[in-house]
Amino acid sequence: MLEIKFEKQNRTLKAEPGENLRELAIRNKLSLYPHILKILNCRGRGLCASCAVEIVSGNVSPRNDVEQEKLAKKKNPGLRLACQINVEDNLVVRTL
Ligand code: FES
Repeated sequence: MLEIKFEKQNRTLKAEPGENLRELAIRNKLSLYPHILKILNCRGRGLCASCAVEIVSGNVSPRNDVEQEKLAKKKNPGLRLACQINVEDNLVVRTL
């Protein structure tokens, strides 16, 4: 069992290795989305970038092609799309 800490919310969630970060948050009723994007998001298809989070610590796989495209203009290398990450390590995550 992995531990995923959401820094701003001060919550630590238990995750199975390979579990999707966005789905983990939703399953635990932790919103990744600001404002109206709670309703108007792409539902994890990598189209809207509204699920962007910062990985503060822990190892994650490199950005995939979808993330490379959506986050290309972002300078922070720690920014990731939660819907594109399957957790494989204990993480500290900061929502935006
Ligand atoms: S939910 Fe739209 S990009 Fe992740």
